[in-house]
Amino acid sequence: MNAKRYVVLASGRGSNLNSLLGAGLPGRCAMVICNRPGAAALNVAQAHGIATVVIDHAQYSSREAFDAALAEEIERHRPDLVLLAGFMRILTDDFARRFAGRMLNIHPSLLPAFPGMTTHALALASGVRIHGCTVHFVTPDLDSGPIILQAAVPVLDDDTEETLAARVLAREHEVYPIAAAWFLKGELKLDGRHVRYSGPQSESVWLCSPPA
Ligand code: GRF
Repeated sequence: MNAKRYVVLASGRGSNLNSLLGAGLPGRCAMVICNRPGAAALNVAQAHGIATVVIDHAQYSSREAFDAALAEEIERHRPDLVLLAGFMRILTDDFARRFAGRMLNIHPSLLPAFPGMTTHALALASGVRIHGCTVHFVTPDLDSGPIILQAAVPVLDDDTEETLAARVLAREHEVYPIAAAWFLKGELKLDGRHVRYSGPQSESVWLCSPPA
C-alpha cells in the first residue's frame, strides 16, 4: 500500500507545524503551503526538509479566487489529509466542502466554547476554570466541525493571556500529531457530528485527556 500523503497550511509562527513534522507521522508531508510571504512557518518547513510554496492571498481579488488557487495547489499533491496549522484565513464554503472529511484544524479553546479569535482573552474574561484546545474536522461553519480530540488545562488566578496561551500551546503540540496519526492510520470514522475512534483501546483514553 502506498504511504499516505498530507499537506499542511500555515500562516505564521509555525509551532504546530513543527510539532507535526517532528512527530514521525505515518505519512509523508508532500508540501507546506503558506499564504504569507516571509512567515516563520516557511523556515520551519525548510528545517525539516519539506518543500514549501507561498500563495499570497493579497495577490487575489477575491476570497473565491484565492481559495480556488489554494485548492488547485493542494490537489496537485493528491493528499489523503490536509492539516490547517495556524492558517489564518476564513475558508469559503466551497473550499471546506471540497476537502470535507479529510481536512483537520487545531483551535485554541475547548470548542464549542470560544470559536473565532482571541480565545484566551475570552476564557479569562468569562471566568472559566478549565480551558484548552480542540482538534476537529473542518466544515463550512467556522470552528464547528466534528471534534476528534481535546486537551484541557487549568486557568490560574494570576494567568495573563500570554501565560494561558503558552499552557494551551504546549497541549496543542501534543494532541494535533496524535489526531493526525489516527486519521492517517484510518482509525477515525465520521458518524454525523461524532467522530468514532477505532484504534488501540490503550490510546482511546487520550480522547479526553492525552498524556501530559
Ligand atoms: C495556534 O494557537 C492554533 O491553535 C491556532 O493558531 C495558532 C497557530 O500557532 N489555530 P502556530 O503558528 O502553530 O505557532
